[in-house]
Amino acid sequence: MGRKFFVGGNWKCNGTFDEVKKIVNILNEGQVPSQDVVEVVVSPPYVFIPVVKSLLRPDFHVAAQNCWVKKGGAFTGEVSAEMLVNLEVPWVILGHSERRLILGESNEFVADKVAYALSQGLKVIACVGETLEQREAGTTVEVVAAQTKAIAEKVKDWTNIVLAYEPVWAIGTGKVASPAQAQEVHSELRKWLQANVSSEVAASTRIIYGGSVNGANSKELAGQPDIDGFLVGGASLKPEFIDIIKSAE
Ligand code: G3P
Repeated sequence: MGRKFFVGGNWKCNGTFDEVKKIVNILNEGQVPSQDVVEVVVSPPYVFIPVVKSLLRPDFHVAAQNCWVKKGGAFTGEVSAEMLVNLEVPWVILGHSERRLILGESNEFVADKVAYALSQGLKVIACVGETLEQREAGTTVEVVAAQTKAIAEKVKDWTNIVLAYEPVWAIGTGKVASPAQAQEVHSELRKWLQANVSSEVAASTRIIYGGSVNGANSKELAGQPDIDGFLVGGASLKPEFIDIIKSAE
């Protein structure tokens, strides 16, 4: 089964109402390959989701950057999967390293969130990735395999999951993984899925790369056999996001 190229824009905790409207205008005017070639999803902070949804071109979709681990209720400050479904937000990013490392989300907690979000009908961009220390200790594959295993233990159907490999040392640092470095980990993740989930899931799950992707390096990264797209941070707030989307061609 062919894997459609996927480009996500993670806006993180950035933007004012006016800035967000400007970014949406840039996206709406961009000439990009058709939806048959590339799936584009942008992820604004929660408060801007309704305005982005109402203004964004129909061939681009919206993701939340997080959601609560179970049914909503008395959880001050959280946003539930049910609320996202109610607002017709199709996607959610879960397990981003900023949440794992700054907010202490464990592999198990992320996996619970992934399972719950899927059970409510959301599609999930599930993030994995090693820190610089872990890479230097030679444990990269072990770390991303453990993060993926936690998810695999709680999820049977992988149809609505995109796996995002985001090495922490490459996020927001300008220090992009080389195409060979990224390809190596993507290939290991695919092998892990094949050995531990199924050949079908390994062949059909999109594994996207995130970490200092920009308009200048996206084409070469996209040429790697196991890189099926990107999760873009900083550059997703700029016109070059359009160039990154074009690297799908
Ligand atoms: O989720 C995207 C991300 O963490 C990468 O950020 O700014 O390095 O593209 P950036």
